[in-house]
Amino acid sequence: MKKIPILLLFIFLNSYVSYSSDDWGKTGHRATGEIAEKYLSKKARKEINKLLDGHSIAYVSNYGDEIKSDKNYRKFSPWHYVNFPLDSSYEVHPKNHKGDLIVGINTCIEVLKKSDSSKEDKVFYLKMLIHFMGDLHQPLHVGMADDKGGNDLKVKWFNNGTNLHVVWDSKMIDSYGMTYTEIAVNENSLSKEEINDIAGGTVIDWMYDSRALCKEIYINIEPGAKLKYRYSYDYMNTVLLQLQKGGIRLASILNDIYS
Ligand code: ADE
Ligand code: ZN
Ligand code: ZN
Repeated sequence: MKKIPILLLFIFLNSYVSYSSDDWGKTGHRATGEIAEKYLSKKARKEINKLLDGHSIAYVSNYGDEIKSDKNYRKFSPWHYVNFPLDSSYEVHPKNHKGDLIVGINTCIEVLKKSDSSKEDKVFYLKMLIHFMGDLHQPLHVGMADDKGGNDLKVKWFNNGTNLHVVWDSKMIDSYGMTYTEIAVNENSLSKEEINDIAGGTVIDWMYDSRALCKEIYINIEPGAKLKYRYSYDYMNTVLLQLQKGGIRLASILNDIYS
């Protein structure tokens, strides 16, 4: 008799887990961190090594998500994304008074640039910056409030119920089956010009770059879509390029802070 409620509880917990989102999954954030390492200046590498106690950027890249469930860090939750309607712009649409991804990134940069910031603050905001630069390149983190960046847009991934946000956070990357180091090593080679192009611009420019991709994603999706191999064929190279862009631009910010 007891078996049925336990089975129901299991099904409930299972569906809850598959609907919750965690930003670029762990692999995505680590790949971005690993790619950033390759583009760091000597000076930046030395300063970052001191702050991270010798740990790699990839190692700390999921810190921003790890603290999410701690209520002492609740105020940072809205800093993981920025939302505005598809037909509006960041400048025109009323901002979230609790902050957003742009406020988050700019705050981290400010703290790291200030000579009188405590070491403890510098360590914290460096780890948050590393994480947020990953989020900035997940196109659905530059999304719409209406559907919480695709979290409310239900789809299937190989017959399992999930949502569009999670497909972009982790499902495609996990199905790809590479570790973060393999992704970083096997990245498509970019020319010097392409790398310079990617590294140039402002945080706002980079946000609109992700936004263009977000718009394309919405043009090509129907609620309830059954996504499988075809979706990865269409978008996995885009995902890999986003991870590279995140790494190159993170390094660009860090090289500027420690120049
Ligand atoms: N919650 C609300 N909007 C979100 C978004 N765009 N990305 C992640 N989580 C969200
Ligand atoms: Zn996410
Ligand atoms: Zn995040």
